[in-house]
Amino acid sequence: MPDNTRRTRDETFWQIFADRYAVEPGPINLENGYFGRMSRTVVEEYQRHIEFINRSNSVYVRQRFEQGETLKITAQLAELVGVPADSVALTRNASDGLQSLIRNYNRLQPGDQVLICDLEYDTVKGAIRWLARNRGVEVIEIDHAHPATFDSLLASYREAFVRYPKLKLMALTHVTHRTGLVMPVQAIAAAAKEHGIDVILDGAHALGQIDFNLDELGISFAGYNLHKWIGAPLTLGFIYIAPERLADIDPDMGETSFPVTDIRARTPHSTPNIPALLTLPLVFEEHRVMGGSTAKGARLNYLRNLWVSAVRELPGIEVMTPDDPRLYCGITSMRFTRQVDQQPMVERLLSDYNLFTVMRNGAASGPCIRITPGLTTTAAHMELLARALTELR
Ligand SMILES: Cc1ncc(COP(=O)(O)O)c(C=O)c1O
Repeated sequence: MPDNTRRTRDETFWQIFADRYAVEPGPINLENGYFGRMSRTVVEEYQRHIEFINRSNSVYVRQRFEQGETLKITAQLAELVGVPADSVALTRNASDGLQSLIRNYNRLQPGDQVLICDLEYDTVKGAIRWLARNRGVEVIEIDHAHPATFDSLLASYREAFVRYPKLKLMALTHVTHRTGLVMPVQAIAAAAKEHGIDVILDGAHALGQIDFNLDELGISFAGYNLHKWIGAPLTLGFIYIAPERLADIDPDMGETSFPVTDIRARTPHSTPNIPALLTLPLVFEEHRVMGGSTAKGARLNYLRNLWVSAVRELPGIEVMTPDDPRLYCGITSMRFTRQVDQQPMVERLLSDYNLFTVMRNGAASGPCIRITPGLTTTAAHMELLARALTELR
């Protein structure tokens, strides 16, 4: 996707969008990966629905919401990611959905192998390790080569697929929260398929900033949230199960609220955040008006490239995430190579330059500082960051 279009670089154009968000005075937030802001209009809509549901209570919910509204919203969501409506079920977040998929995947036999890598989210790693204790499977953990390339990522999976012939299932993270590395999902999924290995995809950071069509990724199982790059209220997510694979995921812990043929049986039945769900049509509309993932992703990539290109070659700095356009997005991590501990540098960025970032552990290549611009970030913020990194190294 080209990230150098005039519109992507146009600060005045993006300021119009930035003005749609209320921002608390304080540090310049370069930790927008945790969750995204709602626009002012989404906040108003959300408040309106909170008040309405509070007034109307179960009368509206039983008569209208459960009778059709929730299905309409799910259909819109399915359309957003390019899959049939009956392949999507709402959850409270990505973790709940991914845990349901991992816990209820019913094709494992004792002695089978399951695969994770160093870059997976800890909840996903924990859930896969739980399978070892509860299904008698062996967990295979691989570390990716650093710096990663498209070919090295694919090669490390291909090698694992050959080396561990009992592999049946693997977790895969579309965008790792540790370094922002974007996995070549389609190529890895195709290689996994050749070996009869199923993939559960963690799409938490992908939705809204990566332009993808879920159906085309070649994935049968995936979990997402809606609060990072789509701009929805917190507490919303969903799972995807390819319709022809529904039988391979059991109903969640004996769930009987929906028939076994209904994907909604694969998640715990509970009272959802109804006002937040009712806000989704406006959220999707605003996402589209901004140009969707294509425009948002291109803007975030442009901001990322401003600071990365300024510091990539400097001694004392290592940018962890490659510049291959297939492998990066707006989130990118770096480290000060002359420092063992990165946390004091996170604190210096804040105290000396008013820049708010976060340290991330857990990648085999070591701790790093994650930099995530957002939709209110400006080119000037990125210039300040580049100066700060240059001076602090
Ligand atoms: C890669 C990744 N997976 C899963 C999650 C969990 O998402 P949620 O907070 O919606 O459960 C996160 C959250 O930051 C994440 O970064």
